[in-house]
Amino acid sequence: MRDRVGRADAPRGSSSSCKRLPASGRACRFSSGTPDPATRGTQLRDRVPSRLQILYLLYCWGLEFSVGWAEKLDQLTDTATKDPEGFLGHPVNAFKLMKRLNTEWGELESLVLKDMSDGFISNMTIQRQFFPNDEDQTGAAKALLRLQDTYNLDTDTLSRGNLPGVKHKSFLTAEDCFELGKIAYTEADYYHTELWMEQALKQLDEGEVSSADKVYILDYLSYAVYQQGDLGKAMALTRRLLELDPEHQRANGNMKYFEYIMAKEKEANKSSTDSEDQQEKETEVKKKDYLPERRKYEMLCRGEGLKMTPRRQKRLFCRYYDGNRNPRYILGPVKQEDEWDKPRIVRFLDIISDEEIETVKELAKPRLSRATVHDPETGKLTTAHYRVSKSAWLSGYESPVVSRINTRIQDLTGLDVSTAEELQVANYGVGGQYEPHFDFGRKDEPDAFKELGTGNRIATWLFYMSDVSAGGATVFPEVGASVWPKKGTAVFWYNLFPSGEGDYSTRHAACPVLVGNKWVSNKWLHERGQEFRRPCTLSELE
Ligand code: OGA
Ligand code: FE2
Repeated sequence: MRDRVGRADAPRGSSSSCKRLPASGRACRFSSGTPDPATRGTQLRDRVPSRLQILYLLYCWGLEFSVGWAEKLDQLTDTATKDPEGFLGHPVNAFKLMKRLNTEWGELESLVLKDMSDGFISNMTIQRQFFPNDEDQTGAAKALLRLQDTYNLDTDTLSRGNLPGVKHKSFLTAEDCFELGKIAYTEADYYHTELWMEQALKQLDEGEVSSADKVYILDYLSYAVYQQGDLGKAMALTRRLLELDPEHQRANGNMKYFEYIMAKEKEANKSSTDSEDQQEKETEVKKKDYLPERRKYEMLCRGEGLKMTPRRQKRLFCRYYDGNRNPRYILGPVKQEDEWDKPRIVRFLDIISDEEIETVKELAKPRLSRATVHDPETGKLTTAHYRVSKSAWLSGYESPVVSRINTRIQDLTGLDVSTAEELQVANYGVGGQYEPHFDFGRKDEPDAFKELGTGNRIATWLFYMSDVSAGGATVFPEVGASVWPKKGTAVFWYNLFPSGEGDYSTRHAACPVLVGNKWVSNKWLHERGQEFRRPCTLSELE
C-alpha cells in the first residue's frame, strides 16, 4: 500500500479575613504577598548557548535582513536579555529556537564559511557544540503537539501564538508549520500531519511569502488524509496538487488508485447490511460514554473538571492553623485551606518565603538531572515520556534553610520527618509533565521502598515554588480535583489509610506546562516513626 500511495520524497530524517469558600471554591481571602514572575528554565537553558548575541543574530536573520533589521536586533536583544525565561517559556518560541539553532544554524554556517571572516567562523564552530540537535528539535515539536492535544488548542490559535498568559507573543511561519507536519509524519501521526500541513497551506493561501512549497505540502497532506480514511478529501487534495503540477508522477498514480478504491467501496456499500450499521453505531455510543483516565486527566488540566456540588463545597473551609498547639505556631498560626474533602487535600498559604525558594533553587540547579522512574520489568531507574522534568535531592544537613523547611513540615503535619526522603526539587519546562501515578508503593511491588527500611510513603507534602503562566496543575483524575500552582503555597495529603492500605483515590498527575516554567519541591513522609502520631485503625479503608 505504502508503495502505491506514498509521498513524493522521503521525509528528511531530521530531522485577611478568613471566609468560608464560596462556590468557586478558591477565594479564601487571607492577606498575601505578590508572587514573583516565573523562574529560569533549565531544560532549555542547557541547550542554549550562553552567548545570547548569536541567538539574536539568528532571530534577526530568520526575520529579515532588509530595511530596519538593526532596529529589530535591538528590540530582540532588549526583550531576550531582560526576560529570557519569559521569552523561552512559550512553546512556540521554544520550538522556533530549536529549529533555528539546529537546522538553520547549519545553513548559516555554510553561508558564512564562504566568506572567510575567521573570528566569526571560529566563534560559531565553538558555539555549535552546545546547540540543540535533531533530537532536541523533534522533542520541542512533539511537546508542542502534546500541548495542542492536552489543552485542545486550535492549530490556527497556536500558529498565531495566541496562548493564554504569554508575555512574548510569537507566531509560526508556513515553513514552521510544514516542519511540524513533517515531524508528525515521521512519527506516523497522521492526525497532526493533517492539521499542520493544512495550516501551512492556509497561511500560504493567505499570501504569506515563504520558501514552503504548496506541491510538497499537498503531497504530505493528501497522504495523511488518505491514511485516516477520508478518500474523498484525499482525492480533492491530489486534484489540487495536479492543477499546480500536472506532471507530478506519483500524484497521477495515486489519483488512479483512489478512483479504483472508490469504485470498489461503492460496490461493497451496496451489499452491506443494516445490522452491521447498527452494530457500528452501538460501539460508537459505548466509546463516547466511556471516559478513559487520559481524557479525565486532560479535562482536569484544562480546568474543565466536574464541579463539586454546592452542598459539598460548603463543607470546605479555611482557617488559621497552629499545628495542634505547636509552640512554634501558637502565636503565629499559618493559613490553611481545604482544597478537597475525599481524599483530604489541604493547602498551606505563605508557607515558604521568596528568599527560601531562591536558596532551594540555587542549591538544586547544579544538580538537576532528568527525573527517572522505576522500570517495572527490569526494576532499574530509567527516563520515561510520562515523566518529563528535572529533579535534584537536597539534604537537611547541607543548608539551614532546608533543615528549617523539614522542621516546618514536621510541625505542621505532626509527622516525624526523620524517616522521610530528602527534599526533592523538580523543575518542569514547557511540555514538562508527570502523568497519573501513585506516590505510594502498591501491593504488587512490595520491594519499592524496601531499601529505605522506613515502610511505605504515608503522605506527600508539595511546595509550589513558582507560579505557572498557563498549565501545570496538579490533578487527581479519580476524584476530579485540580490544584493550581501558586508560588509560596504547599499542599498536603495522606497516600495511605491509617490501616496502612493504599488510598487509590490519591492517584494524581502534574499537567504539562503550557506557558512558563514550574518549580516544585516535595517531601515524601514514610510510615516508620508515625506509630503514635497517626495510630492505625482496625478498619481497612478508613
Ligand atoms: C510528584 C508529583 C506533582 C506536581 O512529583 O510525584 O506528583 O504538580 N508532582 O508536580
Ligand atoms: Fe506524585
